[in-house]
This record gives sequence, C-alpha cells and structure tokens, in this order.
Amino acid sequence: MASSERLDLARQTAIVTGSSSGIGAGTARELASAGADVVINFHGSEHDADALVVDIEAMGRRSFKIAADVSSETDVIAMFDEAETRLGPIDIVVSNAGVQKDAPLAQMSLDDWNAVIGVNLTGAFLVGREAVRRFREKGVREDVSPALGKLVFVSSVHQIVPWAFHANYAASKGGIDMLMRSIAQEVALEKIRVNSVAPGAIATAINAEERENNHDAMLKLIPYGRIGEPADVGRTVAWIVSDAADYLTGQTIFLDGGMTLYPCFKGNG
Ligand code: BGC
Repeated sequence: MASSERLDLARQTAIVTGSSSGIGAGTARELASAGADVVINFHGSEHDADALVVDIEAMGRRSFKIAADVSSETDVIAMFDEAETRLGPIDIVVSNAGVQKDAPLAQMSLDDWNAVIGVNLTGAFLVGREAVRRFREKGVREDVSPALGKLVFVSSVHQIVPWAFHANYAASKGGIDMLMRSIAQEVALEKIRVNSVAPGAIATAINAEERENNHDAMLKLIPYGRIGEPADVGRTVAWIVSDAADYLTGQTIFLDGGMTLYPCFKGNG
C-alpha cells in the first residue's frame, strides 16, 4: 500500500461528538475530506449541524445530524444505535464535546463543577465505552483498516497546564488523560487504538471573548505566533485515525503552536 493510501478513510464511518461547531466541526470536515462518512452530533446548535451535513454531503460523503447530550447514558446509546442503523458499523469515534464554566474556586458552584465534569469527563467515558462495545460487535474489517476501531479524545493543553479560575475544566481534561491511557492499555491487544489530541488556543466560540479582549496576551503564550484553527486539529485527528498512524496508541498529541513549551520561561527563570 502506498504511503498516501494509508491516510485514506474511504469506506469508514465516524461519529464526532459536539461537531456542529468549533473543533468538532473542523474535525468532521477533515475526516470527510479524507473519505469518511460522518455523523454530526449537536446539543444546542441544530442550524449549524444542518449546514455542516449539507457541506459534507456536497463532498460526496454520507452524513446526518443527531441531537444528544453526551453526559446522558441514554442519549449516547441512542446516538450509536441511530448511527449504525443509518450508516452501518462505526470505525472511528471522536469524543470532542466539551464546555467551559469558569469561576474563581471560592465562587465555583457545584452545578458548574458537575456540568463541566458531566460533559467533558463523564461524556468521554460514556462515548468511549460505547465506542469499544460497538467496535467489538463490528469485528475487524481487514479490507478497510488493520485496526478494529479508532477512538480519539479531544483533550486540552490544560490536561497538563494548571489553569487558575478554571479548576473544573482543567480537572476534567486531566481526567481524560488517565481515562484515555487506561482504556488504551485495556484494549490494545484487540487492535483498538485510543489516543488524544490536546489543542492549545484554537479560534472557536469557547474562547471568542478572550481572543477579542486579550489577544496580545494570548499570543505571548504561543511560540508559533498564531491562534490555531479548527482545521489544524481536524487534520491531526484525521492522521491519528488513519492507518498511517497504525502503531500509535495511548498517546496525546499536543497541538498547540508550542504553548506547552512554557514560553514565559524564555530568557527567564
Ligand atoms: C480552552 C480555551 C483556551 C485554550 C488555551 C482550551 O482548552 O478551551 O479556552 O484558550 O485551552 O488556554
């Protein structure tokens, strides 16, 4: 097989959670552009989900939207059921849905804690568990990929970078790291590959206010000198799930323009 063919995702089906906008949408587009059919999961923005489905269909891929709250076990199971009914066995799952509810610790409500852990970490568990169950039922399709399935968690640089005033968010992302590595260890022999991508500052709604009000300060944290785009993350995920990365499992790729190089130490410390 030529090296470029290993990047091809033709005849594979992907579910991307939280894919009506932001990093999820960028990832759905890149997977479709590499040849995959893609299920678009949304929670709030149905209109954006509709528009993305139209775009993906225009690329010649199959796609549909489905509403699901990833922190709900019933919703997650129903989403996988519908995906398989409409598009067939699932080869690729990207657990991306995430929220931020920031507050100084002393003012952080239990509701804000639970909401962030619920979507970001419990959601990752529910989606990851369902992915593994469905991959096993599907069986390896040697003609499509040597892997039984590919599971990717969208984490954050804040799985290792402490983040004052965002304790719930950073804790959820730190949790994703051990969730990902523990699952990867558990299922590797079955040829299920499990990895994370940990983005830095990517231009999405989650940090729109920060980018607007604090742009220069943010740029100082990024040695590469630009805010990332959702497509940057999408292209990395497309590579991780492709057969070009068939030997990759249990790893986090920090896709951050160098943010985790701790640039404030340059000439300091
Ligand atoms: C957060 C963004 C933030 C970035 C870098 C992401 O995980 O969601 O709000 O800009 O990390 O700090």
